[in-house]
Amino acid sequence: MNEASKTLWGGRFAAGMAPAMEALNRSLDDDFRLWPYDVRGSRAWARALGRAGILTSETVESLLEGLAEVERALPGLRPEELADEDVHSLVERLLGEAIGPDAGRLHTGRSRNDQVATDLRLWARDCIVRLEGLVAGAASALVDLAERSVDVVMPGYTHLQQAQPIRGAHWCLSHLWPLLRDRSRLRSTAGRASSLPLGSGAIAGCPYPVDRQWLREELGFDRISENSLDATSDRDWALDLLFACAMLGVHLSRLGEDLVLFASREFGFLVLDDGYTTGSSLMPQKRNPDVAELTRGAAAVTLGDLMAMLSMVKGLPTGYDRDLQHDKSVVFRTTDLIEVVLPAMAGAVGTARFVPEATTRALTPDLLATDVADLLVAEGVPFRESHELVGRLFLEAERAGVPADRLPQGERAAIHPVLAEWRTDPSSYAASADRRAGPGGTARSALLEQIAEARTALEG
Ligand code: ARG
Repeated sequence: MNEASKTLWGGRFAAGMAPAMEALNRSLDDDFRLWPYDVRGSRAWARALGRAGILTSETVESLLEGLAEVERALPGLRPEELADEDVHSLVERLLGEAIGPDAGRLHTGRSRNDQVATDLRLWARDCIVRLEGLVAGAASALVDLAERSVDVVMPGYTHLQQAQPIRGAHWCLSHLWPLLRDRSRLRSTAGRASSLPLGSGAIAGCPYPVDRQWLREELGFDRISENSLDATSDRDWALDLLFACAMLGVHLSRLGEDLVLFASREFGFLVLDDGYTTGSSLMPQKRNPDVAELTRGAAAVTLGDLMAMLSMVKGLPTGYDRDLQHDKSVVFRTTDLIEVVLPAMAGAVGTARFVPEATTRALTPDLLATDVADLLVAEGVPFRESHELVGRLFLEAERAGVPADRLPQGERAAIHPVLAEWRTDPSSYAASADRRAGPGGTARSALLEQIAEARTALEG
């Protein structure tokens, strides 16, 4: 064991840790990224101990100078080259190397249990700000595409069967609003994470008169934790973050699934830019929508991480348990994934273009069946009855092997006279869309309003 692997808790132990245990025990590769927060928390703690009269002002000064030196050294270090147990041990070792034995005074009244809980919450706050910005980037790419596709009329699907005509912008915005809900979930997570655990000690609280309200303000938290036993073992907020990311992952995955379908030769509704597709090492003709597939796959990982964390906390006995060390790898993996997925999807959507010839080609009179039923309703036929009559029209057409609007007039009149009058032309689909002009509908006018609303919501 080298000097660096000296732990923070050696006194009670006669022998060193077994190498196999060291490998399991070590978390530095995962938690190294917390160092800026560990240093910030340590600085605040040193000052709080000084204010409480536990440390002299000279000691506090020396600790602060040492921490500044440590802060300068840390960016140049590589965790895989260090033998320290975790980031807290590393910071304390470096502090000792910088200022000598006084470094050992910093941990007075503090435990790694309240320390790591504080570090992770501080980290999450910055992470969530980054995620919010990336979500807004993807959302704004969707609004831009919506703006470019107001005049694209395409089949709308339920059960992946043609349902009713919609405008391209309608589809784009259907993927935008979920992202804005995800952003608001992230924000509320930040609010819940903003409770300061520091000052909770290992479990029972701090025996020194440390001013936790001052610490709260110093570290920018909204509240202080109410119960030290809860504060050191609570990871609810991390689960909120994992859920918010998993939900976001699911939304991006659904968008990805649509992109894969729509970019296929069979649909051909959309073309993805070369920059977001890849080729095949064997088949020269291939242009694969990998951006969307990788996103779907990444979403699966975020679901697994949420489940892993739920399982990690479900059977924990009271107080901090070491199981919780694994919270970081799970939270970091999910948020790292989301941080690479979002810009890629934003870019793919931002450079995608609709192919109006293909969406137009896909429009069939089936999409107008509801409108035909509404024609009968306008003549006073109760909707249930008109649904039945139009159903018959489409059945007859199917039997005759012709589109419903090409069924001979006589046969249509036999079902209902109004059906004989029914005519379609290429504008019928846009006209159908434009009849849905209420808020949230697919009419051109409603969509222009929705785009404006989306832009306002994006600013919020
Ligand atoms: N590396 C540990 C973690 O992430 C720090 C807390 C250790 N606490 C303890 N009681 N051993 O959870």
